[in-house]
Amino acid sequence: MSVFSDPKLQALIDRLQAQSQAQEAETGAWFSERGKRGELSWDGFDEKSHRYMADKLVALEPDKAEFCHLLCRSLRAKRIVEVGTSHGVSTLYLADAVRANGGGGVVIATEYEPAKAAIARAHFAQAGLTDFIDLREGDLRETLKVIEGPVDFVLMDIWTEMARPAIELMGPHLRPGAVIVADNTTRVRHAYAKFLAYVDDPANGLRAMTLPFEGGLEFIVKT
Ligand SMILES: C[S@@+](CC[C@H](N)C(=O)[O-])C[C@H]1O[C@@H](n2cnc3c(N)ncnc32)[C@H](O)[C@@H]1O
Repeated sequence: MSVFSDPKLQALIDRLQAQSQAQEAETGAWFSERGKRGELSWDGFDEKSHRYMADKLVALEPDKAEFCHLLCRSLRAKRIVEVGTSHGVSTLYLADAVRANGGGGVVIATEYEPAKAAIARAHFAQAGLTDFIDLREGDLRETLKVIEGPVDFVLMDIWTEMARPAIELMGPHLRPGAVIVADNTTRVRHAYAKFLAYVDDPANGLRAMTLPFEGGLEFIVKT
């Protein structure tokens, strides 16, 4: 059973997810080759990797994205922050949940590749979801400095070196009971070390567990 009630939106999502999955084998092989040559670092992407990824979708997988949709329904989420938008696939799931919750609301999304942001906007328009999305173009360390009210849900789907700056910006805005979901926290746990140190710091009032989705999905609750 789909989380979507609109079959046209499901068809758009299916097409984009297929496009993303088709890229993934090639992307995996590219990184694996660079890894074998000792060219990769846990500290983040180098210029070559940034350039290579500049046109890749890397969409959140359907099961994880549907889980986020249902969480946002359960939380009756009205203000969602999506850290990492790309072509807007996960944004469509989140914005559809806000629309289905009724009473208005917004997904604050952010992307620093202008070409990806333009494609994402076209997808939002195609899905009739533009009114529920505030896409902020630029580096998240600037675009997420101002959040206008309490945040119900955060999707952290970003190059891992940006996860710590992002959670530092989001932490103060989380309402009690808010949820953060972070992708791939088992697959690249080393790279999430600074982010997880923030999560584990008792001063930040968070509790977390790793859910057994492929690659691991961190489920973090503001207590
Ligand atoms: C994993 S992809 C997001 C995929 C998206 N959530 C989806 O499911 O369709 C991460 C995105 O974050 C963007 N990004 C990386 N660093 C960023 C930064 N500092 N500020 C804003 N966007 C950034 C990348 O260009 C990339 O498109």
